[in-house]
Amino acid sequence: STDKGLKDWGKFPVGGAVNISDVLKDPKLQAITEKNFNSITATNDMKMYGIIPTEGVYYWDKVDTLVSFCEKNNQRLFGHALIWHHGAPQWIKDQTAENGAEWMDSFMKEYIQTVVGRYKGKVAAWDVVNEAFASEGGAYRETLWYNNLGKKYIANAFRYAHEADPEADLFYNDFNIERDAEKLDGVISMITELKAQNVPITGLGFQMHIRIDTPEELIENSLKKAAETGLKIHISELDIIFNKHNDTEGGGEQSITELTEELKQLQAEKYQRIVKIYRKVVPAAQQFGITFWDFTDRDTWIRPFFNLTDWPTVFDEELEPKPAYYSFAEGLVLP
Ligand code: G3I
Repeated sequence: STDKGLKDWGKFPVGGAVNISDVLKDPKLQAITEKNFNSITATNDMKMYGIIPTEGVYYWDKVDTLVSFCEKNNQRLFGHALIWHHGAPQWIKDQTAENGAEWMDSFMKEYIQTVVGRYKGKVAAWDVVNEAFASEGGAYRETLWYNNLGKKYIANAFRYAHEADPEADLFYNDFNIERDAEKLDGVISMITELKAQNVPITGLGFQMHIRIDTPEELIENSLKKAAETGLKIHISELDIIFNKHNDTEGGGEQSITELTEELKQLQAEKYQRIVKIYRKVVPAAQQFGITFWDFTDRDTWIRPFFNLTDWPTVFDEELEPKPAYYSFAEGLVLP
């Protein structure tokens, strides 16, 4: 029935990423958010630049509001993202340049433990490290964290988070790993190494920003390989675009300029097959859920970021469900 939300289709975590201030000022968006999702990810509110934009002062208002929102609606809260090169404000770069790697590691520890500790028991899981690998291939990304601390910043970040909340699930999260086998292999080697060192990593996030022609066989093989690590697997930022974009520099090729009924249908089928593949190859105990990133075509990050008119989500510009919405829902229950 159309009265059901996506969260009512199965005992399955369906997530939506939101900026809480946008939700609270838009009744229609709020209703959608409450009705459809049993898991919520903060799109931007829990990033380092939002929590500690200047040295020494933590801003908690938005996150506190988000926590109450989720408690009120009985939604799992997913913390995104503790350590991410893009999330780090300029002052951290300046301080590191001045005070070196030791300062950076002690700041990282203090930051992670302050944030995770404050929301202990309220945030079910964290993206502890986000996008530590290069856009393509299997090498570590040369970020400010990597360049100053080497790859051990990753192990340290997980250990600090675990000390602050031993119950929380701790994820590594990245993009393109569903289609770039070299990158996935790099990530899996890292996971193997971390586990051998008893680093408390419990999950792997596939962002899954895919395109209508991303081969499903690749996606299936990648999810399967990842599940063999034994970690929980989260599809953490799902959306499906039509046009081509440039991952690394932004920008895109606007070859499709109109969303026809036929394209809507193709997209609907792809959304359904993604759920089915996930349910098929990820063992039930490792299914952490599927989260949509900016789940309306009105708000999608794709449009400003790549300067493309695209329709990657399950709700249209008027916030009405698209065929993809219903098809995804069926994917949650059909064999
Ligand atoms: O809020 C300001 C607004 O006041 C200002 O006028 C406007 C002009 O630039 O910027 C607004 O802030 C923007 C913010 O989104 C809120 O919309 C930032 O510039 C913009 O950089 C920021 O982009 C976010 C991006 O991460 C960077 O943090 C996107 O919303 C968000 O969807 C995107 O999410 C990332 C994930 O965290 C990691 N994986 C990839 C994913 C998509 O890029």
